[in-house]
Amino acid sequence: MVRQAMERIVPFVESLPRQPACDVEGAVELARTLVEPLPRTGTPLEELLDLVFRDLAPKSFNAAGPGYLAYIPGGGIFHAAVADLVSNAINRYVGVFIAAPALVQLEANVVRWFAEIVGYPAAARGILTTGGSLANFTAIVTARRSRLPENFFAGTLYASDQVHHSVVKAALLAGFPEANIRTIPSDELFRIRPDLLRARIAEDRARGLQPFLVVGSAGTTNTGAVDDLEALAALCAEEKLWFHVDAAYGGFLMLTARGRDRMRGLARADSITLDPHKALFLPYGNGSLLVRDGAELRRAHTTHAHYMPEMQDDPDLVDFCEYSPELSRGWRGLRVWLPLKMHGIEPFRRNLDEKIDLTSWAAGELRAIPGIEIVAEPQLTVVAFRAAARGLTEPELNELNRRLLERINARKRVFLTGTMLGARFVIRICVLSFRTHRDRVEAALEDIRAALAEMRLSAPR
Ligand SMILES: Cc1ncc(COP(=O)(O)O)c(C=O)c1O
Repeated sequence: MVRQAMERIVPFVESLPRQPACDVEGAVELARTLVEPLPRTGTPLEELLDLVFRDLAPKSFNAAGPGYLAYIPGGGIFHAAVADLVSNAINRYVGVFIAAPALVQLEANVVRWFAEIVGYPAAARGILTTGGSLANFTAIVTARRSRLPENFFAGTLYASDQVHHSVVKAALLAGFPEANIRTIPSDELFRIRPDLLRARIAEDRARGLQPFLVVGSAGTTNTGAVDDLEALAALCAEEKLWFHVDAAYGGFLMLTARGRDRMRGLARADSITLDPHKALFLPYGNGSLLVRDGAELRRAHTTHAHYMPEMQDDPDLVDFCEYSPELSRGWRGLRVWLPLKMHGIEPFRRNLDEKIDLTSWAAGELRAIPGIEIVAEPQLTVVAFRAAARGLTEPELNELNRRLLERINARKRVFLTGTMLGARFVIRICVLSFRTHRDRVEAALEDIRAALAEMRLSAPR
């Protein structure tokens, strides 16, 4: 079975750079043709693999390819796929320590390495999750259980108008009414306004509410903006609030000197969300939550049952089920441990530095195109821009830029996405895949210039 799968995986992965950056024409109709009742009889593996590789997988966003400059790119380093095969095949149980002490320890090492990357102390603990959304959820539950009474309906939490929507979802899932979630305006660099945050906290306290949590962003999805984490940490300390940072996108850029400079203050957060399936280039399925005082994470997630084995009291040993909403789960640690052990951290650091360079190069090229306005300069590896033809109203400009985006993407060498920044529709370039190098960012610039020329918005070079 593995051999049969590999016969298809190798050409598929090798062809990623040649595959269209996005090809979903007819994909919805294709999806509808697949609806079928529970199969009563078997089908040969060859046939099923052919269906997936030949017919289905190509009709997608090419999220693992070098032209994927959309949203926040993932990666898909192959080592993790091999690790998944191993961990799923051996199927050991890592929810509790005693069931597989040595394997649990490898995962605990991964969490420790992440803590080292962000600059957390030895008392920090954490978990690997399925993604950033679950990490943000676990952070909010931990903050709620640490800072609020059982009846927490007076608790209010604060984040900027640029925070990822998973934070809002997490707050709702954690039981907070929508009215308790405060959206604080951001400044011209799309960072939370600490002055307005402070004023809102005071106002809420005066109304008898219980402010308990501030969520900062270390790399927003819209523009890659990094909040002033030092200022937020100081404010939270003063106000005795839990300080969580959503660093799902930006966190691993702490491996680079420029990232550390831009995210100064990150280690002062009470908790941090990281997404190895973003800037650590892993395939989808890996997030992480780190908590500076690990005991807080444990307190929020420990329950007991007679049928369970003894949990560990030794501070060096960890029962992950006591730190996480999950009990039974796959051994995710191996998919991070294996690539880090095989290569060490250096190639990851180099790759991330390259992405920062590529983004500032792209921003420089965009700036030089007449009629292009940079709306958000890169803070990490996102740049947002738009065509700004004179004499058009804001809605007309938005429409124009939507059409521009379609034309760029129609060439299928790169896939870019847009977003709204206030009332402005902007086009974003996010460089984060380990497969994206200078040639593909040059292709993006060529396609942007060509699309502008087609729309008679500027002359081709
Ligand atoms: C800044 C930020 N936070 C959180 C998330 C949610 O992470 P995930 O998609 O891994 O659940 C994302 C996802 O794209 C993100 O960009």
